[in-house]
Amino acid sequence: MSHFELYDDENTLLMIPGPVFLHPKVQRILSRPIFGHRTNHFRGILAECEEMLKGVFGTNGTVFMLTGSGTSAMDAAVRTFISPKEKVVSFIGGKFGERFADIAQSAGANVIRVNVEWGKAIKPDLVKKVLEEHPDAKAVTITHNETSTGVLHPLPEIAKVVKKYDAYLIVDGITSVGGDYVKMDEWGVDVMVSGSQKCLGIPPGLGFVAISTELESVLEKMEKKNSYYLDLKTYYKYWKKKGDLPFTGSVTLFYALYESLKMIFAEGLEARIQRHRKMARAMRKGFTDLGFELFAEKGYESNTLTAVKYLPGMSDNEFRTRMQKHGVLIAGGQAHLAGKIFRVAHMNMTGEREVLTVLAVAELVMHEMGVKPKGSGVKGAISEILRE
Ligand SMILES: Cc1ncc(COP(=O)(O)O)c(C=O)c1O
Repeated sequence: MSHFELYDDENTLLMIPGPVFLHPKVQRILSRPIFGHRTNHFRGILAECEEMLKGVFGTNGTVFMLTGSGTSAMDAAVRTFISPKEKVVSFIGGKFGERFADIAQSAGANVIRVNVEWGKAIKPDLVKKVLEEHPDAKAVTITHNETSTGVLHPLPEIAKVVKKYDAYLIVDGITSVGGDYVKMDEWGVDVMVSGSQKCLGIPPGLGFVAISTELESVLEKMEKKNSYYLDLKTYYKYWKKKGDLPFTGSVTLFYALYESLKMIFAEGLEARIQRHRKMARAMRKGFTDLGFELFAEKGYESNTLTAVKYLPGMSDNEFRTRMQKHGVLIAGGQAHLAGKIFRVAHMNMTGEREVLTVLAVAELVMHEMGVKPKGSGVKGAISEILRE
């Protein structure tokens, strides 16, 4: 007799901050016959993807599409626009802010690390103070939506401050692009990166680097190479000449991207962001009504994932194992937050059904663990969903 599990690895609701569960239309595309990457047909797919991505990033510049995860896009942004020994100010409020600083350091930059307590927002006043001390900074790196803490840093206000200095603003938008407001040109962001397996709704494997039109001129004049595979000047050259990628792209993932982006614009960007925001409010209300506290500083909570503090004595391993047994996969805390918080993502296709399921299953698991819920998470979430 073979073993049977109802909620096995093919039948689990993915509520982790990437990879996310896919719409069946996107899932089906993955079995589409492969085609040549140096063909007019494929160039057409790429061109349409880039056009739609410009809309999602809010830029009239260029969006480079890389075959690699989100980190490859971070690496490409840093290695292309920063030379060894140049000063980079990295604002760090979590694991991914730290990663940007590590990448800059690995590229030979003189990295000034500015840490804020994990869970707190990076405030524009702090950015101003630090840039006054380092007016010679070539670039500032920052995470828009810090996935390790569930904090949405106030990027429009931060960008306004950075604009007054002669530094490039390089932003990690890996868990905001496609799920929350991103307006590169309006806000004055020079470079923004993202990845495929979060709010853009396809499997892991593509990275994106969007640059403003001002940075296009910088690229055009640029001579140096600080990387081979991740050099955006090479990407730019191929893109402008023929609408090609310099290296073989993941053809299948580009088909999936094309399908997902068409769905994003069929829903409408504004409607999609409002849905993400509403689901985030419902998730937050649900967990707080169950008796939990949120990890993120009030007023700066992410709209694509919620980080929740465990109640005293609750085992992370037991909670998440039981959630998974009931068919819902969520994430734990990273680094020093392991065991202290859990994280639930609400990206891409997340709607009422998923939010209510997560909260109902969490309530069931609390009962199983002998933890008394303060109130009904489902009821709280419904009140939030019904609110106009
Ligand atoms: C904010 C942020 N930056 C960077 C990354 C790294 O992306 P990847 O794992 O696709 O390389 C992640 C992944 O979770 C992320 O959430």
